[in-house]
This record gives sequence, C-alpha cells and structure tokens, in this order.
Amino acid sequence: MQSHTEQATRAVKVWDISIRLFHWSLVGLIGFLWWSGTEGVQMDNHVLAGYTVLGLVVYRVIWGFIGSYHARFINFIRSPIKTLKSIPEVLSVRSNSHHVGHNPVGGWMVVALVLILLAQGISGLGTTDDIFIDGPLVPYISDDMIYWLTDLHLTLPDYLIALVVLHLAAVLFHDTFKREHLIQAMITGVKKVPASLADSVRQSELPAKRFLIVVALLSGMGWWLISNFG
Ligand code: HEM
Ligand code: HEM
Repeated sequence: MQSHTEQATRAVKVWDISIRLFHWSLVGLIGFLWWSGTEGVQMDNHVLAGYTVLGLVVYRVIWGFIGSYHARFINFIRSPIKTLKSIPEVLSVRSNSHHVGHNPVGGWMVVALVLILLAQGISGLGTTDDIFIDGPLVPYISDDMIYWLTDLHLTLPDYLIALVVLHLAAVLFHDTFKREHLIQAMITGVKKVPASLADSVRQSELPAKRFLIVVALLSGMGWWLISNFG
C-alpha cells in the first residue's frame, strides 16, 4: 500500500485569479496603509489606498456569494460546533485529511479579517487628524460621531496586526509542519490533492462574465462616490 507521502496526486484549481489578486493587493495595501497612517505621511495616498481596500473587501463579500466554488462562504464557513470539533485535526501534524479550500478554523479567520478591514475602512470615512486630512463623511456627521470613528480608526489597527500575525503563523505552521503548500497555492491558484479524491473535488475556475459585471459595477460606483464625495 502507498503511504500518504507517496500517493499519486492531481492538480486542482482552488483559488481563481481574482482571489489571488485580491489577496496579494491586500498585503501590499495594508503594509502601505499601516506605514503611512502611523507615520502620518502620504495621507492623500492613504485615503486612496483605504478606498481601494474597501472596494476589494466589498468585492470579496460579493464573491463569497456568487464567486468560484472555493471562494463561496457556504463552502468554507462551518458551524461553531463543527469548527471546534475540527481543531484537533487541523492542529495535528499527522492528520491525513485534505481541506481543498479553507479549513473550518481558517474559514473563520477569513471572516474576522474581512470584517475588521471593513470596520477599519468605514471608520476612516469619518476620521480626522484635526489638521490636514478629513474622511469624506466628516462634514456631514456630529462631533461625537467623528470622535468615536477616529478613536476606532486609531484602535483597530492593533487588532488587525494581531490577526495578521496569527494568520501568518497558521499559514507557516501548515506549510512547514503539515507540508500543505498553502502559500504556493495562493500564488499559483493550484493545489495537489490525492488522485483518489480528485474526481470528487470541484475546480474553482473564474466565471469570467460574472467577474467582469461585478468589477464594472463596483468601479462605476467607486468612481461616482469618489467624484461626488471623495
Ligand atoms: C482598511 C483601510 C485602512 C487602514 C488599514 C488604515 C490604517 C490606518 C492607521 C494604522 C492609521 C494610524 C493610526 C495611529 O496613528 O495609531 C490611520 C490613520 C488615519 N487614517 Fe486610515 N486606514 C484605512 C483607511 C482609511 C480611509 C478610507 C480613510 C479616509 C477616507 C483614512 C483616514 C485616516 C486618517 C485621516 C488618519 C489620521 C488620523 C489621526 O492621525 O488622527 N484611513 N489609518
Ligand atoms: C496584511 C496582511 C494579510 C492580510 C490582510 C491577509 C488576508 C487574507 C485573507 C482575507 C485570506 C482569505 C482569502 C480568500 O478566501 O479570499 C487570506 C488567505 C491566505 N493568506 Fe493571507 N493575508 C495577509 C498576509 C499574508 C501573507 C504575508 C501570507 C504568506 C506569506 C499569506 C498567505 C495566505 C494564504 C496561504 C492564504 C490561504 C489560506 C488557506 O489555504 O486557507 N497572507 N489572507
């Protein structure tokens, strides 16, 4: 009998190109936003990068409902009980299970990252530094609300960084100890699964027409919002 490591494997498309672009753009933009925000430099670009993150996150939420198979929330968000039960297997170095998309714990990490980015971006809309730069909602909302949103915008980054560190630690754990090659899959879009499972696994090809419609609608809305309120 073949051992787990010697098993024949087949390539499965797991992350479509839009998920990979979403992910690696997010990494670059969050790095820039953190640096510019904390140093107080390039704040005009901070605002533009913040809008871009908001656009990307809204895109990801839409794609979570109508995107390619493994991008859909329904295919990776499990109930809290199922998620708790999966923890020993997710953490076990010897576990022989194969999660083609996000595993149940990783699924909740995706939800947490998306929600905190949404909150950070939205709070930025009502944030002011009292000197040079105001979010576009500042002229329209009360001083209390501005104070609250600014406070939130200055506090949430600590939690965002903590989540990102945890996310990175989990990914490195899976790559190093479980040899799941998750980073490679987030770059190439492809994962290798045992040939015996490959037929039952769905491919995540990009539904091109749907993708273009969503991108066109979001770009149009973004352009309209920035030219009228930005
Ligand atoms: C998800 C996207 C965003 C991230 C990750 C982010 C991150 C940050 C960080 C780390 C700071 C510095 C906090 C500190 O000094 O402790 C900051 C400050 C700031 N951000 Fe953002 N930001 C985002 C989106 C936005 C947006 C969309 C706007 C406005 C439209 C905005 C406006 C501001 C302003 C005005 C400040 C300066 C606040 C002050 O110094 O009192 N940000 N941001
Ligand atoms: C600012 C930093 C980061 C943020 C905000 C972030 C956010 C995310 C999000 C939202 C996802 C879910 C992807 C989706 O389903 O759309 C994800 C997945 C992933 N990220 Fe990151 N990420 C960051 C940094 C990194 C870095 C530095 C790496 C690796 C070097 C990495 C590797 C991965 C991998 C491998 C996955 C897929 C995990 C799986 O197979 O379940 N991330 N990340």
